[in-house]
Amino acid sequence: MTVRPLIAGNWKMNGLATESSAELKALIAKLQAADTGACDVLICPPATLVFQMAELAKGSNLNIGGQDCHAAEKGAHTGDTSAAMLKDAGATYAIVGHSERRTDHAETNEIVKAKAEAAIAAGLIAIVCVGETLEQRESGETLSVITDQVKNSLPAGATAQNTVIAYEPVWAIGTGKTPTPADVAEVHAHMRGDLNGLMQDADGVRLLYGGSVKGSNAAELMALDNVDGALVGGASLKAEDFWPIVETGLA
Ligand code: PGA
Repeated sequence: MTVRPLIAGNWKMNGLATESSAELKALIAKLQAADTGACDVLICPPATLVFQMAELAKGSNLNIGGQDCHAAEKGAHTGDTSAAMLKDAGATYAIVGHSERRTDHAETNEIVKAKAEAAIAAGLIAIVCVGETLEQRESGETLSVITDQVKNSLPAGATAQNTVIAYEPVWAIGTGKTPTPADVAEVHAHMRGDLNGLMQDADGVRLLYGGSVKGSNAAELMALDNVDGALVGGASLKAEDFWPIVETGLA
């Protein structure tokens, strides 16, 4: 890994206050017992728990983030959460453009870009997700789809400090399937190349891999060139499952 890694957990729509607090406390205890100076660690709980988890994480090395934010600063958007609200609740990151949002909520690159810009304007680090479907992979379109998503979802004013890109093949999310290490390395090198044409400090941008990352495959994936961390769904829900993945970022 060439830049400071980020190991991020995305709890999705999972977690109630009591069980989630217990898992978060267990994770914080592990972080405090380890030397985590070399790696950033993040949990993105559901919006209802951002404030509470951020309070628990205060004074530790654990960052808390949102899973989405609205592109507008405020207004008549029932049920949505603004980036400033996430920040106010204690978040420092926001995931935008996760494939589940792109699919379930018809989010286009344009919307994702606007959301990333809103996150950055509120002082959050935007984690912009991209990834091909199985159909796109099988028809040989992976690299062109990724280029299109990176180019058109990248926020204006993106820097290595305010933007992270997560490559998450849609078919690998929650399925137990992962691309081969060679395939991941190919896409990550390609994304780095794309970013080099779009921004100045592209070499410093963290490029995460996500999609069925677990303790047993994390080390191999994290060792690849241009893989600077992981975005983890299912295996981030329990501290004992997430910890071995965090450890690959500390190595
Ligand atoms: P998964 O999810 O680790 O459960 O495959 C990854 C993600 O959607 O971020």
